[in-house]
Amino acid sequence: MSDFVGYNRENPRTYLTMDVEEILKFADNLVFAKTGKHLDNVQEAILRGTWQGQKYPKIAEEAHCSEGHARDVASELWKILSDVLAENVNKSNLKSTLKRQQFSIVSSHYWKDTVQIGNVNICPETLQSINFTKTRSPSTPIAENTQPQIHQDLRDAPDISSFYNRTSELATLQEWILQERCRLVAILGISGIGKTAIALHILPQIQHQFEYVIWRSLGTSPTLETTLKNLIKFLSNRPETELPVSTEELLSLSMEKLPSHRCLIILDDVQTLLSSRQIAGNYRPGYENYSSLFKLIGETCHNSCLILNSWEPPREIVALTREYAPVRTLQLNGLGAAAGDIFREKGLLEPEKWESLIKTYRGNPLWLKIVAAMIQELFGGRVGEFLKYDMLFLGEELKARLQQ
Ligand SMILES: Nc1ncnc2c1ncn2[C@@H]1O[C@H](COP(=O)(O)OP(=O)(O)OP(=O)(O)O)[C@@H](O)[C@H]1O
Ligand SMILES: [Mg+2]
Repeated sequence: MSDFVGYNRENPRTYLTMDVEEILKFADNLVFAKTGKHLDNVQEAILRGTWQGQKYPKIAEEAHCSEGHARDVASELWKILSDVLAENVNKSNLKSTLKRQQFSIVSSHYWKDTVQIGNVNICPETLQSINFTKTRSPSTPIAENTQPQIHQDLRDAPDISSFYNRTSELATLQEWILQERCRLVAILGISGIGKTAIALHILPQIQHQFEYVIWRSLGTSPTLETTLKNLIKFLSNRPETELPVSTEELLSLSMEKLPSHRCLIILDDVQTLLSSRQIAGNYRPGYENYSSLFKLIGETCHNSCLILNSWEPPREIVALTREYAPVRTLQLNGLGAAAGDIFREKGLLEPEKWESLIKTYRGNPLWLKIVAAMIQELFGGRVGEFLKYDMLFLGEELKARLQQ
């Protein structure tokens, strides 16, 4: 693993010099690690403005919002940063606090793979854009740190946007993962129904119970070996050069940590491994060996959890669900009436006609977002005008997705 710019392994605590772009990236990582959400425009304007010594009226102007709103968002932001950094952060001390913040490395080979910032640990790659300069000896020995360690690698996790309803699904997932300690949970549903979104939103509710949290998208159809190497590098701090070649050894190495440490692995876009032309759940040629990984995680005794998102369940998941209690599947359906919030967000008019639109598009949030944008653009938000056309609008993006 490559070092950070200017990072000193001998002195794992460092002082920072940062410009405003670096501070935004840094703060974004901290906020994401704490809340699972990236900075929004107003939060970004607050940080930028504060860094440049601006007052709230000016910040509000830059953020295109009222001063009151900017102050409210800022107060929430200072709270999040205070929690993450384990010290009081506010507008007047933001700059000095972040400059003073010291970084320490806390994994078992503690100067290798994980950076601790206040209460959370973050994978260094997510912080690569930050310039680490002058180093100095630690003022507090690392051994004295008794905070539970959370190692996260959420590089592959997409941005979170607005999210409505799904309260009962989130509660179910939380129950399965935390109370029932399920080893494998498959979130299933048609493209656009919200699998990725719900997995992102369950994270803040459960991640505090896991020592290791890693999110990987299989959207590019990586081989099993590539995925396993990725997991091992994160979970076991092993450099690429020390990894075995055979799939069997990689499999056993990737399972090594799961019994002794509570690890949460999220694999998104698992459908890319499955064949679209065969019986549901069958693998594409070359990807059949993923079956061994899913079986091992579902069948063997350990303390970790794999969440996988897919259009359909890989075939062995169905069997495991029947035979083994700690394996579950959650079938996601449409949003129902709550999808109206999407229309409200998009500024659609005539709420009395929304139900019909939601039914037509089966409450699929992605489809509803696309059609709402189209109604806004072509009909100025008037839903009735759109409904006069007795046809199903798909648009190019939807057609392409449905084609798959
Ligand atoms: N509950 C929700 N409320 C509002 N928007 C949502 C909700 N769920 C999903 N969305 C939005 O719908 C779109 C599709 O969601 P998402 O990407 O999670 O679907 P998906 O099931 O993962 O699709 P795919 O299988 O193609 O990856 C995104 O823009 C997402 O923000
Ligand atoms: Mg998805």
